[in-house]
Amino acid sequence: MKFGVIGAGQMGAGIAQVAAQAGFTVVLRDVEERFLQRGRSVIERSLAKLHEKGKLDATPEDVIGRVSFTTALEDFAACDVVVEAIVEDEAVKKALFADLGRIVQPSGILASNTSSIPITSLATASGRPERFIGMHFMNPVPLMALVEVIRGYATSDETAAFVVDAARRMGKTPLSCNDFPGFVSNRVLMPMINEAIQCVMEGVAEPEAIDGIMKLGMNHPMGPLTLADFIGLDTCLAIMEVLHRGLGDDKYRPSPLLRKMVQAGLLGRKSGRGFYTYG
Ligand code: CAA
Ligand code: NAD
Repeated sequence: MKFGVIGAGQMGAGIAQVAAQAGFTVVLRDVEERFLQRGRSVIERSLAKLHEKGKLDATPEDVIGRVSFTTALEDFAACDVVVEAIVEDEAVKKALFADLGRIVQPSGILASNTSSIPITSLATASGRPERFIGMHFMNPVPLMALVEVIRGYATSDETAAFVVDAARRMGKTPLSCNDFPGFVSNRVLMPMINEAIQCVMEGVAEPEAIDGIMKLGMNHPMGPLTLADFIGLDTCLAIMEVLHRGLGDDKYRPSPLLRKMVQAGLLGRKSGRGFYTYG
């Protein structure tokens, strides 16, 4: 299987890694060499950790050897499937899928790792809606079991079956849902995160207390503010905006504090500061 991944950020690097662990031939693209280098180091560190714990079937060198790094979209022409994991922005994703629709061989399947943007709208932009689908991995990809599979209006049964099979071969559990804003995962998760941010804004408690209450009280592995920093506050805001616009109810209105932090460049872990500060 020739597996393409576009975007070598935290999600794209993880998806490329688990595809290579499954034995696929992987091509990973970002817009600049330095982003590819960063993605490569993330994969190397993760593989080293998994190897140390005896959780890899092959050597880290063999796994990373299956990944080629490129800035050229033409290198995706012969892919069987291409998963997009670039910024959560509908216009930017549509432009990319219009290019991919022209470049990737006609039998190739195009998939988006979007957190919330309508799959049907991206599918239309690709020009091959029956061979288009949502393949939503969870962060951190190497450790999380779920792939949420989202069928667009025209997604064919063959496309859905192909992606379900690919997810299983990558060691994941695929679960399917229909194309509504935020799907299931972020329609349920993100309002909780947004509400935790609202609690900070209103002075209900300090961030540490909010996270501690949700961790110890609900047995969540991470508190909602730690998780927001982990996901990226820019991504959280983009998802809330899609929910608010798409579902129309004011209960999905992004917290003004979330908006302000993104405006200030406080994006969480990836920028070194969000609700907490990172080394
Ligand atoms: N690759 C390999 N190993 C990794 C890793 C990675 N990417 N990330 C962490 N690890 C390792 C750590 O190094 C650590 O190793 P040691 O035991 O040797 O120290 C081990 O995994 C366990 O990690 P931690 O001790 O730091 O923490 P943990 O036991 O809490 O597990 C976690 C980490 C799995 C991330 C857990 O905290 C968790 O499940 N958090 C919630 C994650 C979550 O909710 N994800 C979904 C986000 S929403 C989303 O993805 C959708 C969207 O569209 C926004
Ligand atoms: P990120 O900011 O870490 O990475 C995005 C990468 O895409 C960057 O390296 C950027 O340079 C690159 N990029 C931008 N435009 C590009 C293009 N045209 N071609 C190639 N590369 C391009 O973002 P992320 O957190 O990895 O999120 C990526 C996608 O995955 C988003 O749609 C997001 O909503 C979704 N997602 C995120 C999470 C999460 O927890 N962060 C979880 C599931 C899904």
